[in-house]
Amino acid sequence: MEMTETIRIHKTNHSTLADVDWSNLEFGKYNADHMLVCDFLNGAWESPKIIPFANLSLSPVTLSLHYGQTIFEGMKAFRMIDKRISIFRPEKHYERFVRSAERMCMEVIPREIFMEGLHELIKLDGAWVPSAAGSALYIRPFIIATEAKLGVKISEAYKFLIVSGPVGSLYQKPISVKVETKFVRASRGGTGCAKCGGNYGAAFYPTKKAREQGYDQVLWTDGKENKYIEESGTMNAMFVIDNKLVSPPSSDSILDGVTRDSFITLAKQEGITVEERPVSIDELKRSFRDNTITEAFGVGTAAVATQIKLIGIDNVHYNLPTKKESIAELLKAKLDGIRTGKIPDVNNWNKLLI
Ligand code: COI
Repeated sequence: MEMTETIRIHKTNHSTLADVDWSNLEFGKYNADHMLVCDFLNGAWESPKIIPFANLSLSPVTLSLHYGQTIFEGMKAFRMIDKRISIFRPEKHYERFVRSAERMCMEVIPREIFMEGLHELIKLDGAWVPSAAGSALYIRPFIIATEAKLGVKISEAYKFLIVSGPVGSLYQKPISVKVETKFVRASRGGTGCAKCGGNYGAAFYPTKKAREQGYDQVLWTDGKENKYIEESGTMNAMFVIDNKLVSPPSSDSILDGVTRDSFITLAKQEGITVEERPVSIDELKRSFRDNTITEAFGVGTAAVATQIKLIGIDNVHYNLPTKKESIAELLKAKLDGIRTGKIPDVNNWNKLLI
């Protein structure tokens, strides 16, 4: 056992690092050796500890298993060209994690536990941060309600954990998407803006149906009129229309994406006009008819940026060129450059581990 000021560390004797096939980092395949665990019990967060990655033991009547009080974040650590490790925008992720906790009536993890825990965990599992282009250590902080009671109530006990694992790109190639007008991901006043498990589970059925029809993902529309584009699968949606970068604005039904925010900031710094505004299905059809739409893509932590090669609207297929000389690729290259230290980090997004 080793002690830092606040975090007890119990190191594994059975590292699985040697089992990793670094040339095939399928998303979610590998878990790094350690995890951070911190319990909220009797009205207070206890001291966090770092322990070997292992199963949890939960009562069958644990609240989160029944009523979905679970939230998570998805973030990444990168291997810089000078070999140091940097975590990308942890503050921004923490702020969203707090908002998710509040929306789901869960206890907010204090900033110090989140930041120090993250820092110590990634330092300990530093050897798990890959260095190949496009790869990263994906970090998954999450909180589950742990009160063991079937009563339909706000839990009085929680467990905060951070696990991680090396990943390549979520999507290897451009995707085709179906504009979904029957099922909705989120509606006004719902939980779309929170990163809660239910949002993802509820998306499985419509996504499965879209896949049966030959698409890779769905392009969600709003829950009121099914007229406006919301998100693209598990990513935020972006379009290039009339040479402007257009993205539906964050709202209570659209997740405030960290990659989305980074792309918008970088685009503005590149002198590209950015419009955060609703994009209707009619506008998309018009822009295809008039040839004013030149790109569509999804952005997210896991996927970074994934070009959309085809949009299906009411069974009509609209094709898009997927080329290297695109705004999506330009911004992705900038972001990759910043995260690996090849381009100056003028926005102070990299938090270096020291
Ligand atoms: C992410 O991009 O981090 C996500 O949360 C999407 C998905 C992998 C759940």
